Amino acid sequence: MTGAAAPSNSEILARWRHEPAPLLAVLHAFHDRDGYLSEEALRAVSGALKIPLADLFGTVTFYHHFSREPGGLNKPRVCTGNVCCLRGGRELLEALKSQGAAAMPCAGRCDEPVPVLRGHDQLVGLSAASLAAKPTPLPAPNPGGCEECIFEKIREPGRATLDGYRRTGGYEALAKAVREMPPAQLLAVVTESKLAGRGGAGFPTGVKWKAVADAPGQPKSIVCNADEGEPGCFKDRAIMDYDPHAVLEGMALAGFATGAPRGFIYLRYEYPATFRILERALAEAEKAGLLGEKIPGSNFTFKIHLRRGAGAYICGEEGSLLNSLEGKHPFPRNKPPFPVTHGFENLPTAVNNVETLASVPPIVRKGAAWYRGLGRNGHAGTKLISLSGDIQRPGNYEVPIGLPLKTLLHDWAGGPPAGRTIQAVTMAGLSGGFLAGDALDCTLDEPGIRGKGSFLGAGGIIVFDDSRGMVAAAHDAMEFFAHESCGKCFPCRIGTQRLTERLNGESGPQDLADWTDEVRDIGAAMRATSACGLGMAAPFVTDSLLKFFPDAVKQHASANRPPHQ
Ligand SMILES: Cc1cc2nc3c(=O)[nH]c(=O)nc-3n(C[C@H](O)[C@H](O)[C@H](O)COP(=O)(O)O)c2cc1C
Ligand code: SF4
Repeated sequence: MTGAAAPSNSEILARWRHEPAPLLAVLHAFHDRDGYLSEEALRAVSGALKIPLADLFGTVTFYHHFSREPGGLNKPRVCTGNVCCLRGGRELLEALKSQGAAAMPCAGRCDEPVPVLRGHDQLVGLSAASLAAKPTPLPAPNPGGCEECIFEKIREPGRATLDGYRRTGGYEALAKAVREMPPAQLLAVVTESKLAGRGGAGFPTGVKWKAVADAPGQPKSIVCNADEGEPGCFKDRAIMDYDPHAVLEGMALAGFATGAPRGFIYLRYEYPATFRILERALAEAEKAGLLGEKIPGSNFTFKIHLRRGAGAYICGEEGSLLNSLEGKHPFPRNKPPFPVTHGFENLPTAVNNVETLASVPPIVRKGAAWYRGLGRNGHAGTKLISLSGDIQRPGNYEVPIGLPLKTLLHDWAGGPPAGRTIQAVTMAGLSGGFLAGDALDCTLDEPGIRGKGSFLGAGGIIVFDDSRGMVAAAHDAMEFFAHESCGKCFPCRIGTQRLTERLNGESGPQDLADWTDEVRDIGAAMRATSACGLGMAAPFVTDSLLKFFPDAVKQHASANRPPHQ
């Protein structure tokens, strides 16, 4: 077999060293070429990018997927995330151990487990023999007959191509904005739509963009957060795979509204097929002159750079993501200052989630009032929900904000498996902990869920039927947070470990009252003193376990045994 000659060290470095945000791109180029990151490669990168070698080693080894062993890229990595463990992820890992398999945290394929990364592919299957590369499932037509915003056109044939996108109204919003709307008018439309961030924090998008527009300093940046690391969340992958141009158009609109000439997409490592789809869409849009120098009909220039993460949940946190892009150790940043004034390279930056950005072109085409009207009971717009676990029809659903949770679970998604009942669901992926019992009578909107002691966040919901042990489920969730805590602050680094130990029965008081006091105390300290949302959210898991499953906790604390037994 013949192919293009592998690039030399100097060719790789020449290709990337003068590009913005070069480190991840350079490291991936070496990793892809050699199948691992050799010491020689790291020395070359350190010299060319002027990063001290010790710092570079620390950064590279922080990520899960940069292998330092020859052949590491081609060794299987098996998802042992919460949903995959319900489906046999641990057993698959055992079956692939002879091939050098290692575990990886949730890989964003909870709708069709179990994902395995090997080389440049993500495979899925429930056994070693059935593993195969499969396209992302196309979101099913809206079962409730509700009008959609983001998924409205996603099922149109060829929508992922430039021709297909334009045939179905694509890039009309950008053309309209750059020709007819001053940036202030575009900002007003986004603000009036009441679109709020869909990445978890729910910050109003118009307010964020206005802050970037008003902040001094150039070049400003738009960063598309496509890290999607929250277990139980896989909605951004569906958008990017079937509607990549909607994300690019949303970014260009954000650039026009804020005066930013450059954009970055930070895509999680575990989505290799999505990387190729985005690469192709970007090339198509640039070739057609829709992105790049002077977008037709205007003086507006907007260039998008695609960067691939290397496996670290914390890199979805915006400060950590910006540090990762800048080639620094990806710790979250202390706030204030916020990215709107001090973001990428300390310049004004809008960091937005994929879903947030993909919502903008339809809003510009159809108007703010149209978007607001899609919600129920006074809530504006729609939300994508990724539904997985013990449910008949897992997948991504676009719901009107304010839809009752039980309507989604039972009427839209078919309810639990036959003969089972729903015992609990998670909210915000894992970050919102559990809802159970009467709390399942709530509506899918932030006030509705907050009223039950949780939050909607990025919209991942994992269902547990009545056959599941909830202490084990809580243990697996906390183990994830302990594994992914970046370690910058003591209460989160130690607290997530201690809570995991309390839940695995290895240590901790056997008296129920003492056990409960201690777990609550650790959680309160984490919530009060953690520097980022990971440490603040993790105690939702234990607090909701104590609230909804006191009997299971009592049994666990007194038995003091591992929850999986
Ligand atoms: C631990 C942690 C992980 C996060 N992961 C993501 C993520 O994968 N994708 C995302 O869009 N936002 C994530 N966020 C939220 C981002 O920090 C940020 O609020 C968001 O990207 C802003 O975009 P939005 O306003 O459009 O939601 C995460 C936050 C925390 C604390
Ligand atoms: S709260 Fe946890 S994840 Fe966040 S910065 Fe502190 S140690 Fe890192």
